Amino acid sequence: MTRLPSAKRVHPCAGPPVPSGTGGARPPGLPQAISGGQERAGTGTVAGVNPETSRNKRAWESASEKHVREYDDLLAQARNRSSLVPLELDLLGPVLASSPAVVHLQSGHGLDDVALVGAGARSVVGVDFSEVAAAAARRRARELGVDCRYVVAELPGAPLRDGCADLVYTGKGALIWLPDLTAWAGDVARLLRPSGHLFVYEAHPMVPLWTWDEDEPRVRPDRGYFDRDHVNDTFPANGAVERQATLAEVVTAVLSAGLEILHLSEHPEPFWRPDGVDAAAWRGRLPNSFALLARLETRA
Ligand SMILES: C[S@@+](CC[C@H](N)C(=O)[O-])C[C@H]1O[C@@H](n2cnc3c(N)ncnc32)[C@H](O)[C@@H]1O
Repeated sequence: MTRLPSAKRVHPCAGPPVPSGTGGARPPGLPQAISGGQERAGTGTVAGVNPETSRNKRAWESASEKHVREYDDLLAQARNRSSLVPLELDLLGPVLASSPAVVHLQSGHGLDDVALVGAGARSVVGVDFSEVAAAAARRRARELGVDCRYVVAELPGAPLRDGCADLVYTGKGALIWLPDLTAWAGDVARLLRPSGHLFVYEAHPMVPLWTWDEDEPRVRPDRGYFDRDHVNDTFPANGAVERQATLAEVVTAVLSAGLEILHLSEHPEPFWRPDGVDAAAWRGRLPNSFALLARLETRA
């Protein structure tokens, strides 16, 4: 088991390997389980992985080079520990007050991990299938001396110990990449200790439908709310395929995994505003994000 030099208390995901969990399908080729000290698991290029997922991984590896090119800017932003929006801080306040061990699924550039530690988290383990993103986040965490570590793995099927997280945090463009939300929710439930929390702050499922017209909001003629997927044409592009799920499907997946929903709200603000774009769809009339806080039910 590897310990972080800065860690006062080791993240519970960093224990010895355990048998495979009760929930969450493990993609073929991934190890049964890894110790939290190991920082690399499957890389998504193994035989049998969905070809769309492999294409998405290639697209994300390329797009994540942005985190390397803009490393210094992102480091400066991380130092401010301000990437969590007020809504997140409000909803997460009571959870973060208990100094939780956090697992961040699809951790991306990892700015939120530094902010979570700044807001009270004991430690964070980020999981993402992009080696480029994880390497940049790992380097930043070391430079800032925060207890954030990164595992490269394809999701669902996080190769972490069962019950190792007090809080699973995710969102900001995460769910739309997942081929199977039921398996994702099973993974979340498996990772959480009894009464542990799931927090999602995410793009509203209507977002893929809005145009970026600045004069007035319009619905894209090539997309539908009940479509199953579409090709991404913004970021990361490169032929990446986004999956769609309705809000009801997200809620159903969470409930079916044995979590109780404590909070669910829809909001007009998007979680992401690309530079130079001021879409009319973001001016308050339409849903652009949602927040969900849930807790793993404890069985009597
Ligand atoms: C829009 S980014 C959001 C990440 C993070 N929430 C943030 O704000 O930086 C989506 C992330 O999901 C990762 N990703 C996409 N599909 C994945 C999968 N099936 N398994 C693991 N990671 C995945 C990508 O590499 C990318 O870093």
